[in-house]
Amino acid sequence: MEFHMPVKLYFGSGEINGLGDIVTQELKAASPVIVTDRGIVEAGLLDRIKASIPTARVYDSIEANPKSDTINAIASELREDRPDLIIGLGGGSPLDAGKALALLVTNAGDIQAYEGRAKYVNDPLPFLAIPTTCGTGSEVTWVSVVTDTTRKFKMSIKGPKMYPAVSIVDPDLISTLPRSIIASTGLDALTHAVEAYLSKPATLITDTQAVKAVQLIMGSLEAAWTDIKNNRQAREELMMGSTIAGFAFGNSDVTAVHCISESIGALYDVPHGVANSIFLPEVLAYNLPSCVEKMADLAKRTGIGHAESSEEAMALAFIEEIRSLSGRLGIPSFKALNIPLDQMETIARMSVANNSNPSNPRDLTESDYRIILENALD
Ligand SMILES: [Fe+2]
Repeated sequence: MEFHMPVKLYFGSGEINGLGDIVTQELKAASPVIVTDRGIVEAGLLDRIKASIPTARVYDSIEANPKSDTINAIASELREDRPDLIIGLGGGSPLDAGKALALLVTNAGDIQAYEGRAKYVNDPLPFLAIPTTCGTGSEVTWVSVVTDTTRKFKMSIKGPKMYPAVSIVDPDLISTLPRSIIASTGLDALTHAVEAYLSKPATLITDTQAVKAVQLIMGSLEAAWTDIKNNRQAREELMMGSTIAGFAFGNSDVTAVHCISESIGALYDVPHGVANSIFLPEVLAYNLPSCVEKMADLAKRTGIGHAESSEEAMALAFIEEIRSLSGRLGIPSFKALNIPLDQMETIARMSVANNSNPSNPRDLTESDYRIILENALD
């Protein structure tokens, strides 16, 4: 069994105030680059970060489901600029883009050449992650997910050298997050935790973390969604749950929910968390025969269902609670995404080809994915 967690993590309200010292004294960086998106600029978060590191140059053009074309173009400029630190600021997209850029600054060619595990030749640049949503987990994992624009496919680029050197997880940074983003990223974090627990590579260590993450996220998500600005405890527990879920899935895996959501995200640019929220209950229901005991255990540990019920009833109650939580938080239905019906075959084919499909607790073929997609449409 292996367990990796080499990231130096600063967690807590106000930790972002140490950013200047972390960059200059701890990481000894003289020419850092910030990778972010327009939403962060418009929310005023970039100005706050820039105040601590005024010399940093900024690339703010990262889109949702970050694209290989964007990353390859920025990498060409960065190779001229010669930065000594990449800082990812934002949700999963800027964080994953930042990891990919840290790799490309020191390695030749396009990001497509590094799909898979440890394909880099030289060590990537040091990477500092500052998450501003409650869902990615990317701040503590070694993976960067990038959409190959030519193949319309989400590639995983990963390896032990791709962990952030430092992550600053400050729950105050999510205190102005819009409700729709709290819902989609919070449910993405819940998906990470639940999938980590049920995945084939799960271990005692990842199980311990996954269960705690499920408890923290389910115990805080709705309260954070209701009033994140004034509910400090909810945002701290949600952010802690999201980060711990990252430890868990980063050392086990995600399963069929991510296989489907990454396929849909690559084809239709559906936000990652929205796609996960739609498919989490559908995949759990389909996986039920393979992991009824573990699902019942999650129900027990989150106080769902009646303790005297059968394991199957407990597991079903857990699935129903997740479905109802998504509804209460305003997640749209699969139908509402208006994906053409003739695309289901393509989505099923891409899902089965996803790296994480073998980690699903129930062995799934293309026709299994077709059934899950059809069930979600009903
Ligand atoms: Fe995810």
